[in-house]
Amino acid sequence: MCGIVSYIGKQDAVPLLIDCLKRLEYRGYDSAGIGVMHNGSLEVRRSVGKIADLEHLLRRQPLQGHIGIAHTRWATHGKPSDGNAHPHSDCSGSLVVVHNGIIENYLSLKSGLQAAGHRFRSETDTEVVAHLLEEYWEEDWETAVCRALSRLKGAYALSIMTRWVPDTLIAARNGGPPLIIGLAGDELFLASDIPALLKHTRDVLILEDGEMAVLSPEGVRIRTLDGRPVQRQSIQVEWDAEAAEKGGYPHFMLKEIYEQPRAIADTLRGRIDIDTGTVLLPELRLTPEELRCIERIAIVACGTSWHAGLVGEHLLETLSRLPVEVEISSEFRYRQPLLGETTLVVVISQSGETADTLGALKEAHGQGSPVLAICNVVGSSIAREADGVIYTRAGPEIGVASTKAFTTQIVALYLLAVHLGRIRGTISAQQAVVLLKDLSELPPHVEDVLTRDAQMKEWAQQFYRYTNFLYLGRGINYPLALEGALKLKEISYIHAEGYPAGEMKHGPIALIDQQMPVVVLAPQDRWYEKILGNIEEVRARDGTVIALASAGDEEIATKVEHVCYLSRTSELLVPVLSAIPLQLLAYHIAVLRDCDVDQPRNLAK
Ligand code: M6R
Repeated sequence: MCGIVSYIGKQDAVPLLIDCLKRLEYRGYDSAGIGVMHNGSLEVRRSVGKIADLEHLLRRQPLQGHIGIAHTRWATHGKPSDGNAHPHSDCSGSLVVVHNGIIENYLSLKSGLQAAGHRFRSETDTEVVAHLLEEYWEEDWETAVCRALSRLKGAYALSIMTRWVPDTLIAARNGGPPLIIGLAGDELFLASDIPALLKHTRDVLILEDGEMAVLSPEGVRIRTLDGRPVQRQSIQVEWDAEAAEKGGYPHFMLKEIYEQPRAIADTLRGRIDIDTGTVLLPELRLTPEELRCIERIAIVACGTSWHAGLVGEHLLETLSRLPVEVEISSEFRYRQPLLGETTLVVVISQSGETADTLGALKEAHGQGSPVLAICNVVGSSIAREADGVIYTRAGPEIGVASTKAFTTQIVALYLLAVHLGRIRGTISAQQAVVLLKDLSELPPHVEDVLTRDAQMKEWAQQFYRYTNFLYLGRGINYPLALEGALKLKEISYIHAEGYPAGEMKHGPIALIDQQMPVVVLAPQDRWYEKILGNIEEVRARDGTVIALASAGDEEIATKVEHVCYLSRTSELLVPVLSAIPLQLLAYHIAVLRDCDVDQPRNLAK
């Protein structure tokens, strides 16, 4: 992913663009650039590194203007360098382009353009867009842009500025990457994501796939790339500007970990009636009759969202008694899955923009399956394309490591499981009352688990120099072993593996020695005796066990030296509580290793 911002208005565009761009830095941070129009000429500054490096360059070589575009890059084609940073321009320097996505046919386009005399200066796929636009230039700039873009294959969100039409920006979108237009009186903004705009406006227009927007002092005009005018109402975003700030925390990740009690309460708000044991999800847009026809559920997601899906498998099978399969989107979409009208496909995505998950959604629709999205970002591609959506309402998640999105996804899946269970008659109203009561008590339990922060910091001190970790869990806690390992590796660069504890003897046990800390999820649930057996196996091989256990479990304290106690809750909700110490442990280890917690290397959100 990359981040795009653009501005047109009366203020100095440079500080505004830089400020907005910083709020998109989670999308990519290997190089950044900015282009502004001043007195009819275009000027560009680009720098390898973070936005701070670009700011440094701008202090030495300032820019000025009231219209501009900017970009923060996550390299796909061409390594991070000044030359590969966006904006890219044509041969004559008459236009500049910033791009998020991948132009799949760029090599063939490039050789054609080179044969026609165009000189390329970067290794990127994006540069072909600038040269194509130059090639197709005509008096009617909009038509020229459409003709040039019709040559592109692949996915793009583009913002284009030219000195030929100096008071206008053109934005275009195809095949996935998002673009949001912010309306702020006589100022217009464009950004890849809502947090970039919140300081300036909450009034936004979402550009749909296959559309182009023309931003000028006259306002915004939207049309399809094949020329049909589009009328679109703006929407009001609920998030406030503070939600996109660190709020006194050293990192977004820590802030977002601490936001979980509030985020979970928001996920539940207005959705449960404990007295009657009813879940209220009108946004599902699937009637009880339609839901009764469902014979099977396929959950599809990536990364942490996939781990939430694995927890969801337990919740849905236990409460709705429907068979559930969980799959990684990039596998699912390319393997000709067998779906159909009676398979409900549940896609889970924090951002709502993950290309493989969107691809999986399209595959499901192609086979006639109803698709339900569990999503955090309102108006995102996945949320809009799905038949129904449960928004997790976690607020903007800016840290690259997903935290509050994960726990709220589990809560949303729990709501869905209870809802389906009631509709299908697999749980009684009385059982639903108890299940929902447990759920409503979750936020204070999460508050309580957050008080283990100091303990996690202390453990981080003891363990941050280790180079390998193993995470073990069983049943509904096995996905938490995967999630704990992912959190650690992605932000601290320590090798970590998550394993189903019962599988250890089939290979991973060979790894255990004094140098291998083993984090074991060991709540007192139906798998407890088994997991105690696994703990013994680790100890017998001199492994150090770090256990997450149920409050009051004295037995486990006799077996392992490191125990973190979790408040007692229903077995089905333990994963939400276990997630917290795992997140905190990974966070503190990463800080001690001096890692860039919010923007880990090679990753983007
Ligand atoms: O936005 P999504 O939920 O679709 O993103 C999926 C993954 O890319 C994401 O969860 C990723 O694994 C995170 N870095 C994990 O912390």
